[in-house]
This record gives sequence, structure tokens and C-alpha cells, in this order.
Amino acid sequence: MTTTRHFAGASAIALAAALGAAMVPTAAAADVLLAGTITSAAGEKMGGVTVSAKAAGSTITTSVYTDEAGGYYFPPLPEGKYQVWAQALTYETAKGDVELNKPTQRNFTLGAMTNQEDWIRQLPGDEFLAALPGDTPDDYRMKTQVRKNCTGCHSASYPLQHRFDEQGWSKVLDLMKWVNVSGIYPRPDGKPTGNIDFHQKELAAYLARARGPGESSMKFKLRPRPSGEAARVVVHEYDFPMEGGHARANDGSDWSLGTPSQMHHIAGVHDAQMDFQGNIWITYGHPSLETTIAKIDGKTGAVKNFKLEDQRTVATGTHGITRDENGVIWFNTRSNVARGHGGLGRLDPKDEKVSVYLPPRSTTGTAGTIDADMNGNIWVTTASAMAGGS
Ligand code: HEC
Repeated sequence: MTTTRHFAGASAIALAAALGAAMVPTAAAADVLLAGTITSAAGEKMGGVTVSAKAAGSTITTSVYTDEAGGYYFPPLPEGKYQVWAQALTYETAKGDVELNKPTQRNFTLGAMTNQEDWIRQLPGDEFLAALPGDTPDDYRMKTQVRKNCTGCHSASYPLQHRFDEQGWSKVLDLMKWVNVSGIYPRPDGKPTGNIDFHQKELAAYLARARGPGESSMKFKLRPRPSGEAARVVVHEYDFPMEGGHARANDGSDWSLGTPSQMHHIAGVHDAQMDFQGNIWITYGHPSLETTIAKIDGKTGAVKNFKLEDQRTVATGTHGITRDENGVIWFNTRSNVARGHGGLGRLDPKDEKVSVYLPPRSTTGTAGTIDADMNGNIWVTTASAMAGGS
């Protein structure tokens, strides 16, 4: 029974995706095909390679995966000058400029990385976690501690791309057990995270054996690259501009540069929800002067900010977001200055008017997650005594 329901759910999502695709207008006359083949330097045709394209001046990156014969095919792209790059774990990133004004074939050759430390930097968090040693009961305990304590504020790939000796890891843990999700040191009367504090010595020794200066205890067994149906998806990534016209040194698009920092307004976007028009609405988690929520145009990538005043010209912060059956967008708001006592925001994409419902002061405010039920009700979690929650 559970299985049947599971499949029913899965097909509903697939249907939604198909409808979404059908709503995208068909290629305009000026749209052009870009395709090619990816081969390794050793001459092997490579399946499951990620190939990405971004037009000059555009904020949208489109990515596809090669098929079993190493072939990639983009959906028709608007004419323009493109940066195109191909990536696979343990291979150097191949890059090229493509002037797209007629159907174009562009092949790339990927050279294998010879230095293990170079490709370790490319790995996503789950590959790092899987490679951590866990064969003995003690190692398994520490592996679990890393998974439970070091993946809530950042991906496991952020700390584990680095190497430190035991003393170095211990100093890192000295900081990690105190800071909150934004890296902010608590008040002097704050408490350290008990689990990290209690296991600090063991964790530092374990991490130094895995990611230290000496021989590594990590066992990498990378999962196969996507194939079959999984390799037929098309991914669109929308940049969200940094405030004040700043630019990122590393936006994560070139895996060989490692997992980038999310601080300094590099990654304030928290949750996202698509409306019935195909536009994306985002909440913003970091303190901001411009963004409470924002609309990203699904076709052009253009960003429109909506700001609710908090205090001291800071924008009210937001966290969870959902859409009800009428297409209305709901999100929870919170003060990014005073924290605590959040409200419930409502925005109808048809008129883009924002209203906020504030619960009475006698109850706690909204916080965290939000969803709509089948009867048109909105459910939102309230703030608990959680300190520095995400
Ligand atoms: C309560 C939140 C939180 C937890 C839990 C946490 N960290 Fe961090 N950590 C941070 C923040 C915030 C940063 C900065 C992230 C960024 O720049 O994107 C960071 C950065 C790091 C860095 C990079 C430091 C540097 O200078 O490059 C390391 C290493 C690290 N953490 C290790 C760990 C380990 C190991 C654990 C688990 C024992 C852990 N962290 C748990 C919040 C946390």
C-alpha cells in the first residue's frame, strides 16, 4: 500500500514537471541548437558529464548531461555569446567560448586530474561523508558525529575540503561549538554545542587522520555519473545578485575551485517557490538592506525585490515559503535586527501586494517552516526557544 502511494506521489510530481515544461513557450525563431561530444583525453566517450552554458550578461546557467555515447544537446538557446564548460569529478574543467548564431557543434576533451587533492576539492558533501572511515565502532561513532554536527550550518564539503593537523582541527572545533548558523559568536552567557564540546578531542584526532597532513584514512568510492533517464534533465540556475553591485570571486559553478563560502551576502537566498506563471519567489535569510522576498523572472532571470522595513533600514527577514491552490504565495517574516516574533506574509503574484499577519504578542511568533493544506489553510511553525536557528 505504501509503495502504491509512493508511486502515485512520484507520478504527480512528474506530471507537474511535464506541465511546467509545456507552459514554457516554444523556441522562438532566433533560438539556436548547441550540441557536441565529450571525450576523455584517453579517447573514451564520457556519459553523465555536466555541460553548462551561460550567455554573456545573462544570470541564467543552463546545464545538461551527456548520454551514454558522450553526446550532449541543449534545448534551443537564444542567440548570443556563450561561455560553455564541461565537468566531471576527477577531471579538469574544460571551458570554451561559443558564438551561437547558427546550429553549433562544440566538442570538449576532459583531462584526468593527476593530483588527488585537486579532485577532492571538487566533491559534493555526500561524497566526503561517504568516504569518511567508519569500519571500527569508534570510527563509525565519529563518522556519525561529523554527519550530525557538521552538516547543519554548511555542507560537509565546506570543512572537509581543507586539511588541518589535530591541533588545527581542535581550534576549528573551538570556534564551531560556539558560533551560530551565520558564524556569529554568542553572548558571553551563551553555551557551547554540547555534542561538539563533549567529543572535541576524539573528533579532532579523527578528522586529522582523515583530512590531516599525513596519510589519509579516507576511502573514496565515487558514485557513478548520472545515466539513462536521470541524465535527461535540464537544469536552469538563476543567479541572485549580491547587494551593492558586489561580485562573487567563486560562485560554485567551477567545481575545481572547491565549495565556496556562503558568507558576506554570497548566499542569502533561503527557500524558493514557483508561481503559476513560472516565476520563482525566494525568501532571504541573511540581514539585507534590499530583500525581504524577491521575484525571479523564470524566462529572463530579472530580479524584483520586495522590502518590508524592519528596524534601522534593514529589510525584514524571511525563511519558509509555500504556494496555496489559488497560486497565492505565503511566507514567514521575522525581524533580522531583534529576531523573534515573526509574522505570516501573503503575496498574490497577480497584483504583487504584500500583507503581513502578526500573531498577538501573547503567543510566540512564526518561524521556520510553512505549508498549505488541501482546505486552503496555511500551517506555520512557531518559534521555540531555539537559539540561532536557521
Ligand atoms: C552552528 C553552526 C555551525 C556548526 C554546527 C558547524 N559549523 Fe563550521 N562553520 C560555520 C560557519 C557559519 C562557517 C563559515 C561558513 C562560510 O563561510 O560559508 C563555518 C566554517 C567552517 C570551516 C572553514 C573554516 C575556514 O576558515 O575556512 C571549517 C573547517 C568548519 N566550519 C568545520 C566544522 C566542523 C568540523 C563542524 C562539526 C564538528 C562544524 N564546522 C560545525 C558554522 C558551523
